[in-house]
Amino acid sequence: MPTTDKPVDSLTLEEAETELARLAGEIGEHDRRYYAEDAPTVSDAEYDALRQRNAAIEARFPELVREDSPSRKVGTAPSGTFGKVVHAVPMLSLDNVFSDEDVRDFVASVRRFLAFPADREIVFTAEPKIDGLSMSLRYENRRLVTAATRGDGTTGENVTANIRTIKEIPESLPADAPDVVEVRGEVYMRRDDFFALQKRLSETGQAIANPRNGAAGSLRQKDPEVTRTRSLRFFAYAWGEVSEPLGETQYDVVRRFGDWGFPVNDRMVRCRTVEEILEHYHAIEAERAEIPYDIDGVVYKVDRLDLQQRLGFRSRSPRWATAHKFAAEKAMTVLNGIDIQVGRTGALTPVARLEPVTVGGVVVTNATLHNEDYIKGIGNNGQPIRDGRDIRVGDTVIIQRAGDVIPQILDVVMEKRPADAVPYEFPRVCPACGSHAVREEGEAVRRCTGGLICPAQAVERLRHFVSRNAFDIEGLGEKQIEFFFQAGDEALRVQSPADIFTLKARQAGSLTKLENIDGFGDVSVRKLFAAIDDRRAIEFSRFLYALGIRHIGETNARRFARHFLSFASFRAAAESAVAPEGKGDPGNAAWQELNGINGIGSVVAEAAVDFFAEEHNRKVVDDLLKEVNVRDEEPVGDVSSPVAGKTVVFTGALEKMSRDEAKAMAERLGAKVAGSVSKKTDLVVAGPGAGSKLKQATDLGVEVIDEDGWFALVARDG
Ligand code: IVH
Repeated sequence: MPTTDKPVDSLTLEEAETELARLAGEIGEHDRRYYAEDAPTVSDAEYDALRQRNAAIEARFPELVREDSPSRKVGTAPSGTFGKVVHAVPMLSLDNVFSDEDVRDFVASVRRFLAFPADREIVFTAEPKIDGLSMSLRYENRRLVTAATRGDGTTGENVTANIRTIKEIPESLPADAPDVVEVRGEVYMRRDDFFALQKRLSETGQAIANPRNGAAGSLRQKDPEVTRTRSLRFFAYAWGEVSEPLGETQYDVVRRFGDWGFPVNDRMVRCRTVEEILEHYHAIEAERAEIPYDIDGVVYKVDRLDLQQRLGFRSRSPRWATAHKFAAEKAMTVLNGIDIQVGRTGALTPVARLEPVTVGGVVVTNATLHNEDYIKGIGNNGQPIRDGRDIRVGDTVIIQRAGDVIPQILDVVMEKRPADAVPYEFPRVCPACGSHAVREEGEAVRRCTGGLICPAQAVERLRHFVSRNAFDIEGLGEKQIEFFFQAGDEALRVQSPADIFTLKARQAGSLTKLENIDGFGDVSVRKLFAAIDDRRAIEFSRFLYALGIRHIGETNARRFARHFLSFASFRAAAESAVAPEGKGDPGNAAWQELNGINGIGSVVAEAAVDFFAEEHNRKVVDDLLKEVNVRDEEPVGDVSSPVAGKTVVFTGALEKMSRDEAKAMAERLGAKVAGSVSKKTDLVVAGPGAGSKLKQATDLGVEVIDEDGWFALVARDG
């Protein structure tokens, strides 16, 4: 038996020494490939197995531990990942706009929200949108204490050691800086530095696509000394938690960051009108090639911070800012084939397989074809698109890629169409289970009717269930889900969400051990079970989102969670809101409650009702609830405010704020905003012209106040 396969406890001293030398070399090489080149050649499981073996031999022969042992390397997190940081203030993203018209709409929406008349000035800042990675730098008592990536917006990765190697980022702040301040901005790589790095790495056979990936890879280095060699840079443009206000305007605060020693972008200007905004946009666009770093648009922000505060946030992005993206890049290539993917709701989505082509520095091999009609040259409204040209396999096509979105096929070059190209026949049966795929009247998508028997849907549902914004179970990727789904041994099979949580126990009682299966090592199995156990308690909104109910994405899940506070009361409402013939019963109180939630319409309410009307869905949920504990939602907003926890209805005309601002303000103060008056309503804010809702409130004896009464109650100046 070669030494490399021998059980640790049968190794002789000499063999152990040889083994440790081999392992140090091999693990070091894998580390280099993973961290320096971003191109691992072994699975995590294989890698873990090597480290595990190294540790086991060292435990048996402590005297043989080498100077260069993988177990001694400083800064080497065993899993190769960084610690997590929960952001004190979430890191949000920006909405995108693409045309001059969209910019006008954005400005108009800000005005509408604030109820500002057309002649009242609103100043915006306009600055380049840097194509890098956002970073939050936390200073306490004017010393840098933590640097964290954005991650999912709530939790990021702790990359402090690597950030400290960036010369442009100050280690300490001057005396006028507050005790706590989180300076946020973009870490990026200049194009010339990127090209140099690309050249250097290509000598080891490794390719990096663009400066953004270069910056990301460099920040993910395990060894800060490698990061130090990578010429990363930084621009400050935003902030998170602060112990005292930083200024009165966006512009002033960024200038102050500059005074503190942070690089700030000198292309930031203040604009007073849409025309000025657009002028600056086109100026930056024209200079784009000469700017030494990649930018992908221009960001506009409301300058006054008191107005930013009033505008507040939608679920993922501020209402006071938007990103005006540059036009997407295009390229020509050949369509080699069309594959059909089956999603978790059974939707059949055509995916274009392309002859690889580089668009804006990134190799593109797939593009979305949206749906059956899109391929035929028919748009969503039934009107022709591409002048009615259809898309055929073999066609030369124009593709477009904008930012991180999936590339699209824009058009077909008819002169290059092969003589034998035939119109594409969209399948009438599901490629995964063979069930009929039907297209409902008025719908663009064709759906597999296989439901529970369709493996593709089931696998997609599981993938959604464990995905980052749902249960977020690390170690359960696409490959693992497929494996568990099809596992021959029942002790390993995972076909419904609850099975994930019973896996460990089923394993323990069975002869087949996951550790012995190819692709899983001791360490990765242990980590997987730990990751699963970690999720036995979960937030209501994540849980609901994970169920994958149609129309209940993250935002709607949060709306339901904020309203009902406990999953049990949400479910009770959905189950008792009977929906005869698929329609909600308007006389039903639970149905009214679901529909009255701010932002929830009848389509979404109905999706919730439909879901719980199905016996098998209730079973999936019941099984799951035996394994996991869904935490109640904490009431959000200012719990000390006089309206916290109250249900408020706004009706009639409001004069000092828009309806949207009123709702947003009430929610920030911890109130629930409802669309209709019922016994559960605590307060009605009625403006001039209020009608039936006011009458209902009076009939039910609900407290009614006017707009001034509202401002007096929540103590804001009208
Ligand atoms: S402001 C609350 N300003 O774009 C909003 N973001 O698409 C804070 N970005 O996650 C962001 N340049 O990583 C802002 N001048 C700029 C930016 C910028 C690049 C990035 C940032 C953000 C993403 C949103």
